[in-house]
Formats: sequence, C-alpha cells, structure tokens
Amino acid sequence: MQETSIRTKTQQSIELEERYGAHNYHPLPVVLDRGQGVFVWDVEGKRYYDFLSAYSAVNQGHCHPRLVKAMQEQAGEITLTSRAFYNSKLGTYAEYVCITFGYEKMLPMNTGAEAVETAIKMARRWGYEKKGIAKDQAKIIVCAGNFHGRTITIISASTDPDSNTRFGPYTAGFVTIPYNDIPALEQALTDPTVCAFLVEPIQGEAGVFVPDADFIGSAIRLCRSKNVLFMADEVQTGIARTGRLLCSEHSGERPDVVILGKAVSGGMYPVSIVLADNAVMDVFIPGSHGSTFGGNPMAARLAMEALDIVKEEKLAENAERLGQLFRSEMQKLVDEFDYVKLVRGKGLLNAVVIEPRKASDGSPKTAWELCLLLRDNGLLAKPTHGDIIRFAPPLVITEEQLLECCRIIALSVRQFA
Ligand SMILES: Cc1ncc(COP(=O)(O)O)c(C=O)c1O
Repeated sequence: MQETSIRTKTQQSIELEERYGAHNYHPLPVVLDRGQGVFVWDVEGKRYYDFLSAYSAVNQGHCHPRLVKAMQEQAGEITLTSRAFYNSKLGTYAEYVCITFGYEKMLPMNTGAEAVETAIKMARRWGYEKKGIAKDQAKIIVCAGNFHGRTITIISASTDPDSNTRFGPYTAGFVTIPYNDIPALEQALTDPTVCAFLVEPIQGEAGVFVPDADFIGSAIRLCRSKNVLFMADEVQTGIARTGRLLCSEHSGERPDVVILGKAVSGGMYPVSIVLADNAVMDVFIPGSHGSTFGGNPMAARLAMEALDIVKEEKLAENAERLGQLFRSEMQKLVDEFDYVKLVRGKGLLNAVVIEPRKASDGSPKTAWELCLLLRDNGLLAKPTHGDIIRFAPPLVITEEQLLECCRIIALSVRQFA
C-alpha cells in the first residue's frame, strides 16, 4: 500500500513536469527531494550518491551548513539592491575575489551564459578601443565541440546541432577551429581582426575532453604574442573541480580573462564572475553593461562563504588525490570489460566511455541504460552522446565514500554485461 502511494508521488512529479514544463531536458527518471553533502534523496526516501553535482555547481556538497546559515542570515538583512546604489557586501566580495584569483577587477553576473556574454562583449570592445580593429569587424576564435551556454550569441559559436538548429539568424564574428589544435590556432591568429580566443580548459559538456598537457599554456603564449585575449571559460572546470582552484593553473600560464559560475556559490544561487585586469575591464563604463541581480548582497555573501569553504576544506587537494584514485579504479574496469572503452579526466571531472550495444532481445544498451542501473544501485550520473558517462561528485567526498561508489559502478558494469 505504502509502496503504491510512494511510487505515485514519483510518477506524479514526473507527469506534472512533463505536462506543464517545456521539454527542453531529458532527465533521468528520479525525483529528488533533499540533499546533504554527497548524498541526495528521492521522494521515495531512497538515498543516492550524486555524481553529477548539478553539472559541477555543488562542489561544496549539497546544503553545506555554512552556506545554509549564510543564506538564512543574509535573507533577513537584505537580498537585492540593484546596482543603482552601492551595497555593503559587493566591495568586500570584489576585493576577496580579485585577491583569491589574482586579477585586478571582477564583474559580477548570475549565470554562466551571462558571464560568457559579458566576456564576449568585453573582448569586442577591447578589440575596437585598445587593439584598433575596424568597427564591427572583431572576431573571436572558438573551438569545435565547445559548450559556453544557451543564448543566441553563444549558440552562434556552437558546433552542436542540438544546441543551434533552427535558432537563426545567428550572431556573426566567430571563427571555429578544432579543439586541442595549436597549428589551427596559430593559423587563425594571423587574422588581425581577431580580438580573443574563448576556450574551455577541458571540454566538459562535450564529454570531458582533456587537451594535451601543453595545449592551454601554448595557446596562452601564442595569444599573448599576437595581442589577442585568451579567455578561459572555467564555468565548469573552475572552483577546485580539476584539482586546482582554476583548471588553467595546470598550464603554468595566466589567462587574460577568466569566466566563472556554478560552484562560485556552492549551488545555492546563480552567481557568475568575469575576471580581468584593468586594461581590459576598463572598457566597461556606466551604461555599457549590467544586470539587476548581478553583485547583489546575497550572491556576494554566499560566494565569499562558498570560496572560503573551498580553501578551508582543501577541496582542490581532495579533488586531485581522489581523482587519481577514481581513474585508477575505473581503469580496472576498462581492463576487465571490453565494452568499457576508456576513462579520462582531471581531478574529479571524469568520464567513462562505453561501447553502446544491443541486448539479446534487441533492446539498446547505451550509456543511458547503464545510468539507470547506476541509479538502481544508488548512484546518479548523467549520460551524454549515447556512449559517455560523466562522473563528477561533490568535492567533499571522502576516500571511503569514493571507493564505495567505485564498487557501485563496478557492480553496475557487471550487471550491464
Ligand atoms: C563551460 C561552460 N560554460 C558556460 C556554461 C553555462 O552556464 P549556465 O548554465 O549557468 O548558463 C556551462 C554550463 O554547463 C559550461 O559548462
């Protein structure tokens, strides 16, 4: 009896969302109700390890007590002032962020896509005002397979037909080169109307593609030599996910512009940031850009707390150490099962590639079916492109928990045989 009513709750939630919500997502059939640290619970009360972390927004773990407290406190003080007035948190937050990441200025926005848009506008204006590019001629180099968000301008730079089909007319001014291809970048940089190179240090949405170890460093040096801004989209790779506060730190070089989002607030609230030095950021003057919610006191307070947690709980170090352990455990599955093709990643941003097959009854056995098995065994991960599963737990995960998760994945892979 109880079983029936609880199942109905799950089905009801899914039915309502399907009926009244636009079908712009294809979620795994599980209805989440509660989260704490590395765990989430569905409406039936079943507990799962969260191995997506809201696309790396919940690096600090679900409902971190310090973030809940900060949010509650700030909610009782003031949440939104708009930028028509100064607020008592933004200045402190801006200083904190600039010192933490080593840039002279920050510009606060809300979502990742807005921060990418901000960086694109900044690069174009810098191109006209500082580099002397002729009016409306500025170009930005992007990479095939990129994911930078969902706005019209950003999808104009996308090569993914799922993202950009029948949304034209598109924004002009992008040049696409293959990812991880220094000769192609060198060639594209010969165009004097190029103002920036926008790139993810690891292509997350495309399936966790890690470029060659020297790609980012070489690209930064090349851009510098051509007076072109190197803009790192670290919305997914930033905030300790790959074993460093910024993934670009692995390169030993410093991007001109860094774009951050997601885990900046530990998943409590949409908070994004663009970082640059004065010579670039100063192209923005009053009236040239803005956002009603950008830099609001709630966002500022949460982000400072969330970044403190990353530092104090040594989440980058944890991601680095446990990421190596995770990949070595997954490598054992690659060695044992021929349909587990490979594991790749950095820190705790990893993906396992499987070979899609058919069961004896002809039904498909793709990454989706393996994710359903993982769900049944108590671990949530999201498939992409039919053959890739991204594994990105909250960075507060312990070694013991990670090893338990590796056992769940091994069991599911065995059942998938
Ligand atoms: C690299 C990268 N840039 C930008 C975005 C867009 O962020 P948002 O969904 O907050 O707009 C994402 C989201 O997944 C991302 O992975």
